[in-house]
Amino acid sequence: MYYPFVRKALFQLDPERAHEVTFQQLRRVTGTPFEWLVRQNVPDKPVACMGLTFKNPLGLAAGLDKNGECIDALGAMGFGSIEIGTVTPRAQPGNDKPRLFRLVEAEGLINRMGFNNLGVDNLVENVKKAHFNGILGINIGKNKDTPVEQGKDDYLICMEKIYPYAGYIAINISSPNTPGLRSLQYGEALDDLLSALKNKQQALHEAHHKYVPLAVKIAPDLTTEELIQVADSLVRHNIDGVIATNTTLDRTLVSGMKYSNEAGGLSGRPLLQKSTEIIRSLAQELNGRLPIIGVGGIDSAIAAREKLAAGATLVQIYSGFIYKGPTLIKEILKHL
Ligand SMILES: Cc1cc2nc3c(=O)[nH]c(=O)nc-3n(C[C@H](O)[C@H](O)[C@H](O)COP(=O)(O)O)c2cc1C
Repeated sequence: MYYPFVRKALFQLDPERAHEVTFQQLRRVTGTPFEWLVRQNVPDKPVACMGLTFKNPLGLAAGLDKNGECIDALGAMGFGSIEIGTVTPRAQPGNDKPRLFRLVEAEGLINRMGFNNLGVDNLVENVKKAHFNGILGINIGKNKDTPVEQGKDDYLICMEKIYPYAGYIAINISSPNTPGLRSLQYGEALDDLLSALKNKQQALHEAHHKYVPLAVKIAPDLTTEELIQVADSLVRHNIDGVIATNTTLDRTLVSGMKYSNEAGGLSGRPLLQKSTEIIRSLAQELNGRLPIIGVGGIDSAIAAREKLAAGATLVQIYSGFIYKGPTLIKEILKHL
């Protein structure tokens, strides 16, 4: 109701500053009795996915709460799941600023944050303090200065540390802002990574008597052939789910607009159709063998429904949440 005013004020600020200011406020209420300030009542719409029961199919996508600092405040807004991260083994500053841009006419964002985060140990401490009663996903990646050939080790380090605290673990191999990361989506590199992750999952399952599903997050820029190969690899390695999609490098729909030539990944409305097409092809290829979490450009209940109709079991939002605010959660859940 009041978000249009808040947004007007926030959009006067540089996008990253607006994020910081918002998070300062959310940190003040998270885990306190003042959470009612951001609380929204949403209908229960339980969905089973990856062996878990989600209280509703709408989640917050990775990258907004990279360090897990505001889990309870975000949870109070009504999300059925919250994906924190991407987190890396060691803290790192990310790319130089400015690194986040609003394409207001298109309701899009371009970011080249580069996994700015405080490291996995800090994230675990934050998660231990949270009381969110939905499903907590933890999204992991590799440090920028870890050579891509050793990237696997970074995922394994993170996995070991977060395993006891995660509802599911998201494997981010699709950010365009860490050099070489997307190469892990192909061929032998992918097989090698998935097999190591699966072995680790089995060992941790035995050690903790708890099975934590693994979901791999993919890019929207894969060709049909590449997508078929990824799907085949995910099935062969018994991965539990796939998150489609991350941001795109494609600028076709925004060419000529302010900031459209900035390097990084494009998200929001200009990504909607592209990511939905990836979900549709993936669903056809997977044929129900593993569930899809659909993300990319969702800014309305209709857009969320399109993702579900294309084959997603759950959906997530990020850019739509920036443009429309917390009421988008209510709007989507009312009409799903
Ligand atoms: C500023 C920003 C930072 C992001 N950081 C991450 C991240 O750390 N890890 C990740 O997997 N995805 C990250 N994403 C991608 C989102 O999780 C999501 O996949 C993408 O933005 C598409 O959804 P949307 O159109 O609803 O924003 C980021 C997106 C934005 C806009």
